Amino acid sequence: MRKVLTECVRAATNAPSLHNSQPWLFRIRRDTVEVYADTARRLPVLDPDGREQLISVGAAVFTLRLAIGAAGYRPSEELFPEPGDPELVARVRAGGPAPVSPAAEALAAAVPHRHTNRWPFAHTPVPAPVLERLRDAARREGAVLTVAGPAVRNAVLDLARSAERWLRARPGYAEELARWTGRGVRHDGVPLWAVGPWDSLETVPIRDFTSLAELPRPAEPFEPYPTVLVLATEGDERADQVRAGAALQRVLLTATWQNLATTPISQLVEEPVVRRALTDPGSGLSAQMVLRVGYGRVVGATPRRPLSEVLLGRRNAG
Ligand SMILES: Cc1cc2nc3c(=O)[nH]c(=O)nc-3n(C[C@H](O)[C@H](O)[C@H](O)COP(=O)(O)O)c2cc1C
Repeated sequence: MRKVLTECVRAATNAPSLHNSQPWLFRIRRDTVEVYADTARRLPVLDPDGREQLISVGAAVFTLRLAIGAAGYRPSEELFPEPGDPELVARVRAGGPAPVSPAAEALAAAVPHRHTNRWPFAHTPVPAPVLERLRDAARREGAVLTVAGPAVRNAVLDLARSAERWLRARPGYAEELARWTGRGVRHDGVPLWAVGPWDSLETVPIRDFTSLAELPRPAEPFEPYPTVLVLATEGDERADQVRAGAALQRVLLTATWQNLATTPISQLVEEPVVRRALTDPGSGLSAQMVLRVGYGRVVGATPRRPLSEVLLGRRNAG
């Protein structure tokens, strides 16, 4: 069982995370994997409350659950199982043998192919039934995914530009961004090749990972009418944020399975005023993430920390 769960942990480390911070640690105990948030990998300027860290860990928890299911075991999970240990985000258990559903098999197969794509997408619109599948993926994890109509899309893109300006004015923002971008061979952070070009039409607000570090960034025209999605949850407690991460990853994998390229755009949810403006106050929803989807070119995989760094030892393991 340890061998199977080790491979499931390896799959989970492919999850997306804020600036590729990979803020997770795992411990295998018999038939269970404990997933911890690694507080040393929180981004204090961008993510002072640790909300995006929990979204990242939630994406890893979902991937772990999926891998256990695809390995032929019935997965079950408990979030924040020890009230005295807030860093223990989840216990994911591999129950008895269970048939692998075609959906689980398809999503698990998409895990190594899901990458953040910061390049221009084709002008082809994403068909409505495909978008409906993404909405359904979010719903299955208890979240709400809204496809922005033209007016909302333009407002969201405007808000993203304002958010990026305000974020840059935050003390320490440039240093934090530079710490997680480029800089030689590493197992984490966003490598320079993954940053992508600047939108010469100034429509798509891809996070500007490089200008602060005074590195060159070529310009290319992006699609003029991007497909923009807002992921939201009913609550905004820590467990809701973990669920938002699970929903994010389920949506991203569903998109990957359908040959869609995806870009998380989180500047909007990092500025509290902008974040509040993203959802209708009457809806009671909290915006957790903004996504751009479309048909894009093939991009490569960003690095991951080796298992020896993220898998805690057997000490105290039952
Ligand atoms: C909570 C969260 C926020 C993110 N915000 C952004 C963002 O604002 N801009 C961006 O280009 N990528 C964003 N990403 C994508 C990460 O940078 C990406 O997942 C990470 O670099 C690993 O690369 P990969 O997704 O290709 O595996 C975000 C991911 C997560 C989970």
